Amino acid sequence: MKGPNDYRFDTLSIHAAEMDDQNQALNSPIYMTSTFTFKDLQQAEDTFTFKRRAYVYTRGGNPTVNLFEQRLSVLEGGVDGVAFSSGMAAISSVIMSFTGAGDRILAHRNLYGSTFGFLNHLVSHYGVKTDFVNMTDLDLFETFISPQTKVVYFETPTNPSLEIIDIKRVSEIAHAHGVKVVVDNTFATPVFQRPLELGADVVIHSVTKYISGHGDVVGGFATSKDFDYVQRLKFGFMCELGGVMSPFNAWLLLRGLKTLSLRMDRHASNAMKIANYLNDLDEVERVIYPSLPEHPGHKLAATQMNGSGGIVSFELRGDRDKAETFVKNLELIKLAVSLGDAETLVEVPAMMTHRDYPEEELHIFGFSGKTIRISAGLEHPDDLIDDIEGSLKKVFH
Ligand SMILES: Cc1ncc(COP(=O)(O)O)c(C=O)c1O
Repeated sequence: MKGPNDYRFDTLSIHAAEMDDQNQALNSPIYMTSTFTFKDLQQAEDTFTFKRRAYVYTRGGNPTVNLFEQRLSVLEGGVDGVAFSSGMAAISSVIMSFTGAGDRILAHRNLYGSTFGFLNHLVSHYGVKTDFVNMTDLDLFETFISPQTKVVYFETPTNPSLEIIDIKRVSEIAHAHGVKVVVDNTFATPVFQRPLELGADVVIHSVTKYISGHGDVVGGFATSKDFDYVQRLKFGFMCELGGVMSPFNAWLLLRGLKTLSLRMDRHASNAMKIANYLNDLDEVERVIYPSLPEHPGHKLAATQMNGSGGIVSFELRGDRDKAETFVKNLELIKLAVSLGDAETLVEVPAMMTHRDYPEEELHIFGFSGKTIRISAGLEHPDDLIDDIEGSLKKVFH
């Protein structure tokens, strides 16, 4: 009989870590409970002294949440994982698990806006400092590692510049200095990229995005190959800081995982079609999508990713007014933050998710005030391109 890890990715996203349900339900039940009862005080004492393994309180563990943690860990190649109430809860807990007063974090210069805000401002309240560097330049990156640096943090592809960071080389360099590596794998998902296999120590996700896939959950996740670290993160940080995931959300996420691979293929093929369409237009100044040969990270992406994902960023000729008129005249594509949903979404990061970045220095971070980010959904690609074409006609009439 095959062991749980002998199956392929698409099968594991449906079956990994299956629960042994006494009623033999096909889908795992939702244990929508805050607490778990004991038969008597003896049983309670045995549980609290670890003689008996059992659930106690949902902030410390819940069967539905645990199933989600185990299934996504298998997909990422981790040994166990921790679910959180949001991506930011995962990021802040993981960063806190590696740093204390006097330590430094080394982060790539382009990050999701709230992550940038957290690393740029909030950690300093606890005596921690962050250095921001362009990690696409590996020599420069290494010069920024100091004896105080405890953790390296980056997204790849980055939000919204879609820069590609070399996970293997960055991990090798960081490890040579005894520094841990954390990768935000939200954009690629384990369908397209598995950072733990390339040397990263921890992978985090905003599962709000592709893992959920339906725009109805806010959640986060972290996993690692180091079992002891995952236990420390779960009981020493998630449980104490309190960013716990609801069992109902875990159940929705298990449902999302079943179609992750199918959805990612469609997100990516729609994104590729949009990128190619935009790339052929004179009205478009720049298209950023890693599968385009002119993308600076194109070759590296081909070595560490199986696909480029569903996000396309671009800039129209002219000033920011053009971007504003473009998003205003879209009919099918919705103006919204977030990404990875069935619906195609558009936003202008400098005016929305990335407002924490200093406007006059945006170019340093690889995007500009007029960069438009599209999260390609699952609709028919021709309808998306018709919508973009119709809006562009109004911008450049
Ligand atoms: C790459 C990335 N990481 C982390 C987050 C934060 O996740 P959440 O909104 O679930 O807290 C986001 C949100 O947009 C994101 O895009």
